[in-house]
Amino acid sequence: MKIGILTSGGDTPGMNAVIRAAYIKCKLLGHELIGFKNGWKGLLENITVDITDQILDQIDLGGTILGSGRTNPLKIDNGLELIKETINNNGIECVVAIGGEDTLGVANKLTNEGFPMIGVPKTIDNDLAATDYTFGFNTAITIATEAMDRLSTTAKSHDRVIVVEVMGRHAGWMTLHSGIATGAHVILIPEYQISFEQMSNLIKKRYSEGNTWGIIAVSEGYGFEDTENVDAETDEFGHVRLEKLEIGKQIAERLTKTLNIPTRAITLGHVQRGGSPTTFDRVLSTQLGLKAIELSNDKKFGMMPALKGTKIQSVALSDAVSKLKIVDEESWQVARDIMGI
Ligand code: F6P
Repeated sequence: MKIGILTSGGDTPGMNAVIRAAYIKCKLLGHELIGFKNGWKGLLENITVDITDQILDQIDLGGTILGSGRTNPLKIDNGLELIKETINNNGIECVVAIGGEDTLGVANKLTNEGFPMIGVPKTIDNDLAATDYTFGFNTAITIATEAMDRLSTTAKSHDRVIVVEVMGRHAGWMTLHSGIATGAHVILIPEYQISFEQMSNLIKKRYSEGNTWGIIAVSEGYGFEDTENVDAETDEFGHVRLEKLEIGKQIAERLTKTLNIPTRAITLGHVQRGGSPTTFDRVLSTQLGLKAIELSNDKKFGMMPALKGTKIQSVALSDAVSKLKIVDEESWQVARDIMGI
């Protein structure tokens, strides 16, 4: 059996570990694994990548050896025909798409059109439904946690408030986890509103108690009720480039004006996606890669492996993309308790 594989959307630590595991399982089952370059673009334009034994030593390699991109084949007039041609010309019987909500949304639509698709859930944002965690999330929050720990010592030394902008689009999982892990004094996530006044009161209270420094963790997708919308460029899936809105910088400037305290704003940005995956992500990626080939072998198209508790199960792609997994109230309550609100 010839199995195609691609990585699409934002790169995520653990992608190579998934490819490696898929390669190992293909060898065990006597299948051939063919890589496609730069996500859906490779499948549309028939650009393949040889996956060789070299991948066996690359479980720790960040990024993706296949390259990634945000091409949306459903936005291209004859996109489906082009994909069909590539699949037929290469004699491919199944395509494994490693991606987040956009990629798996496409994979789900292709499944409905009769294409043999298997998904693998990835995203540092952890916002995919039907799986407890996505690979890459653990690495991203580990990086954000280390950054906030470091920022705390410099904030303390200089009597400053540092606003740390964390990735995650419209799901606050990364900000929540790294904020809790570092004891951030304010945690702002898109799912729940804290007003500017409430936030500055928390900082004011700290200062009145003699703690003349602070860390505010804010999601890139956060906005106060009165935050103005700014036009920013969108990708092929219609997502705004949120770092362009600079919510961290806006908060820092407003806080300086209101409380007359020194502030700095830091955007963690793509640092959160770079480099080696953590142990947790390496193991999860390996489990997902192995299972994806098992599902391909069994022709369970339209499915994806998912982490449920401590076990890998298979779920329908349609369930994974039916809604965004946003921060639930119980998880948010932890942050509220820590902040004392
Ligand atoms: O979805 C992953 C993610 O890293 C988001 O957290 C972020 O908003 C977005 O991708 C950034 O996209 P790009 O890599 O296109 O700048």
